[in-house]
Amino acid sequence: MRNFKLSVALLLFLGLSGLQAQERIPEVEELLEKMTLEEKIGQLNLLTPGGGVATGAVVSEDVETKIKAGNVGGVFGVSSPEKVRQAQEIAVKNSRLGIPLLIGSDIIHGYKTTYPIPLGLSSSWDLELIKEGAQMAAKEATADGINWNFSPMVDIARDPRWGRIAEGAGEDPYLGSQIAKAMVEGYQGEDLTQPSTMMATVKHMALYGAPEAGRDYNTVDMSRLKMFNEYLPPYKAAVDAGVGSVMTSFNDIDGIPASGNKWLLTDLLRERWGFGGFVVSDYTSVNEMIAHGMGDLQDVSAMAINAGLDMDMVGEGFLTTLKKSVEEGKVSEEQITKAARRILEAKHKLGLLNDPYLYSDESRPEKDILTDENRSLARKAATRSFVLLKKHENTLPLAKDANIALIGPLANNKNNMLGTWAPTGNTELSIPVLEGLENVAPDAEVTYAKGANIADDSTFAKKVNVFGKRIEIDERTPEAMLKEAVEVANNSDVVVAVVGEASEMSGEAASRTDITIPDSQKKLINKLVATGKPVVLVLMSGRPLDISEEMALPVSILQAWHPGVEAGNAVADVLFGDYNPSGKLTNSWPRSVGQVPIHYRMKTTGRPGPESGEFQKFKTNYLDSPNSPLLPFGFGLSYTTFEYSDIKASADSLNADGSIQLSARVTNTGNYDGEEIVQLYTHDLVRSVTPPGKELKGFQKIFLKKGESKTVSFTITPEDLKFYNSQIEYVFEPGEFEFFIAGSSDGRFENSFELKE
Ligand code: BGC
Repeated sequence: MRNFKLSVALLLFLGLSGLQAQERIPEVEELLEKMTLEEKIGQLNLLTPGGGVATGAVVSEDVETKIKAGNVGGVFGVSSPEKVRQAQEIAVKNSRLGIPLLIGSDIIHGYKTTYPIPLGLSSSWDLELIKEGAQMAAKEATADGINWNFSPMVDIARDPRWGRIAEGAGEDPYLGSQIAKAMVEGYQGEDLTQPSTMMATVKHMALYGAPEAGRDYNTVDMSRLKMFNEYLPPYKAAVDAGVGSVMTSFNDIDGIPASGNKWLLTDLLRERWGFGGFVVSDYTSVNEMIAHGMGDLQDVSAMAINAGLDMDMVGEGFLTTLKKSVEEGKVSEEQITKAARRILEAKHKLGLLNDPYLYSDESRPEKDILTDENRSLARKAATRSFVLLKKHENTLPLAKDANIALIGPLANNKNNMLGTWAPTGNTELSIPVLEGLENVAPDAEVTYAKGANIADDSTFAKKVNVFGKRIEIDERTPEAMLKEAVEVANNSDVVVAVVGEASEMSGEAASRTDITIPDSQKKLINKLVATGKPVVLVLMSGRPLDISEEMALPVSILQAWHPGVEAGNAVADVLFGDYNPSGKLTNSWPRSVGQVPIHYRMKTTGRPGPESGEFQKFKTNYLDSPNSPLLPFGFGLSYTTFEYSDIKASADSLNADGSIQLSARVTNTGNYDGEEIVQLYTHDLVRSVTPPGKELKGFQKIFLKKGESKTVSFTITPEDLKFYNSQIEYVFEPGEFEFFIAGSSDGRFENSFELKE
């Protein structure tokens, strides 16, 4: 009876403090009972025997011996059912307690069937498609033995200098949260013990996307208000969706590195958000706290475990120092037991404690990996990720029997189609654009010329080429290449120039201070335009670029990101109009790097910049540039056109427990059927903390035949109008809200409603 009362009291306490009351799992508790301190510490150790991408200076040694000794909880960089079975056998048959391993991997945008980089896929605003992509990745990866994925990366990013902007879903916390949820649901499915699902990891907790000066791994310094309102929502959405693990970030938060930050990992993540899974460090991020100035390896390891970090990736600070810290009273055994419990619980959730070989079915790779079905999903995903940035005259779509000059360093290139962070993909399987055009339009006459190198600077190329020949410098002189390209262009009806960035010009440790198209390619573009032929630029990049100069040219521009294994087919589908492009940017594209960080959710300030964009002294603006971006968040064209009318609210006001419908009539006024992403933005006119000038509150992707109209309606409740106030309470406040519904974030507010108490 006493125990019963106690546990009721405990549950109540846990409930009150926001913690998820977790049931103890008998199998896990039995194991913990048997474990020595060393074995518990062993579970907290994550190693990579090589074969993956070593992003730090360290690669693990003697992995097999350590597994046998019970010193390893998980490995990554190991794949194939056979190899995973071997690894599990070493753990199960040779270590004292026979605990199976977590088998991790970075499956960022597809496993072997690589689909577009995440920033590209986010431009589809298609949650179902994003979820399907994650499901497909899980099916392929688990067929190859992997049970734990280091994705989704949900870091909000507003600075295109930062190379890892490619890996996320852009600048907006609302859209970012929806995408985070879709990805977690896609990877994990309904039941993690199903062998076609894998555990997801939301990363990098937290604020990793806001490094000062856009330089990867740099310091982050941010107010709590900004964190909660703008940067933390996607991590929270992943936690709410039941993500199994959380990865810390390399940066510090309020002066304390994330991997040792108790406020972040315990007070916020576990107590406030009720996260019940486990927390893994990033690659050697515990050890890196030494360089951050937090002490020696023993100090930083103790700091990390005491903060709430459960698993140490590669650095082995936990393995080599925690026992000593327990003996010296710096870490309690209880803290280590808690962390080991969380790792074992993850193994239980995955079904590994019942069957260590659940993910080692030799018959699966052939059935599940790189199937036609998967490749066609990757192709579909790529077409939905493309954003038409500029239409010049009626060049697009192209006729299927056109005489096309296909030019550019990315036009017949396999090495750069997959994009950054595709270590499990195989560049050789990529469809180059040249092949795609031939596949989709066999009657077209296509002549190819490279025209330019991605960049001419060999020192720069060397830095980009760490994972393969992304930038290949031609033996011919730039002049000779240009000459050939101009000749080919002169003999064509239309020029398609595939230009932009090599894969690893974005991604980890790939920040740029200059985000324009490299000079070698700019010269090429100008020469092609000078031929007077119609020119279409197919732009590939892992970040928003500064394309101010190209936007001013008489060209059409299709942003294709790095499209994945089906690149060429997807580009051809869109260029020839088999799919009418519908993507919308998920970052604001700046006029110049001088505007960054830039995003649409900026506050008005006390001295709002003039709406006309004309300079006014003593207002917030620049002497040499308008405030507005070159291309706003939410922007993207179609071969057809859409008109918005009848934008209205169903009532003048809503109550605290009520709801209101905000709607618009959308009409396809152009000559093609097409999809449109209809977006709702609100502006809270008066609130206790300064509001953003506008906030995305909803979106819907609709299909309209030419001439067709539809009414699109959004239901808004006070819950949707909440924000964090200066006490970091999540509240709504009564008052007036303006809103608009449009095809991009640069619409005008013309309507409003009131939220009543
Ligand atoms: C990256 C992580 C990744 C890890 C393991 C790190 O350098 O920051 O995103 O999951 O390496 O490969």
